[in-house]
Amino acid sequence: MKNIPGLEITENSSSKRILNIKIKEEIINELINLFKRFDLTAIEYKPFTRFTVAKYLDDLINNKLSKYLNDILRDRKTGCFIIGPETITTETNDVFLVKLSTAITHLIGTPNHDSMTGKFYARFYVKHEDKSDSYLRKAYTNMDLHTDGTYVKEITDWLMMTKIEEKNVEGGESVMLHLDDWEYCKELYNDPIGRENFTWSSPKSKNVDYKVEHPVFFADGKGLPQISYIDQFPEPKNMKQGQFLQKLSDSLEGSKKKVITKLPVGSAIVANNYFWLHGRKPFKKNRFLSRELLRIRGSFFNL
Ligand SMILES: [Fe+2]
Repeated sequence: MKNIPGLEITENSSSKRILNIKIKEEIINELINLFKRFDLTAIEYKPFTRFTVAKYLDDLINNKLSKYLNDILRDRKTGCFIIGPETITTETNDVFLVKLSTAITHLIGTPNHDSMTGKFYARFYVKHEDKSDSYLRKAYTNMDLHTDGTYVKEITDWLMMTKIEEKNVEGGESVMLHLDDWEYCKELYNDPIGRENFTWSSPKSKNVDYKVEHPVFFADGKGLPQISYIDQFPEPKNMKQGQFLQKLSDSLEGSKKKVITKLPVGSAIVANNYFWLHGRKPFKKNRFLSRELLRIRGSFFNL
């Protein structure tokens, strides 16, 4: 395991492909002070301040963090890490976590505009009751394995999900699947229908008023399989496409290689969006259930 002062790096207990990175308390304390220079309005209105907070973070880790995070995300063998403060205190609150998440993502690449909120990030709740039109906030339904950015034009190389807070939560674990672990990858990847263009659209709450066309599977620079898929948004044009999507959905959900992991409050999971799929197990029913999440998706910097 890599040794970087200021960080505690371990292998995730559920998967050797996922690295757990804890930022040591002394670094967090320095960041709390440095971040005070900017409020959230400045972070939201002035894109360059996002790079300033990212630089604060990288400097404190002797400029080794940005390279390390990029190496993990681009490495097909890993491609995923969970990062967060070593200890959670009253000072590592929601505002701090938005700034920390901003800093981490700005060491990786440029975030996409999130149409759901009109910002580069989105904060949202999962609660007992929900009247929305997508699975994102449905607490008691399984959120099936998918990738992000399937219905937008922007490149979505990576995604981050930060758990800001949760109360009265049981269940709702993160579910992850790496394409190279998936038992049915070869079969589905080699099916010509998976390489056909599908039409992808999204429900109203996403505020995206166009449709896009792309296949489910495509190859990376080395010919390895990559995927762009979510169950709710493709519009099959015919029976062949419909049947293919059903088979794909069944074989993803039926996989025995899913990694189930509990994201600690204050931590973020960051994954390569082209060879990792993500989802969420249903929560146990509770009227007072509340989880607040933050998400940021984006493209890599050109190295
Ligand atoms: Fe997602």
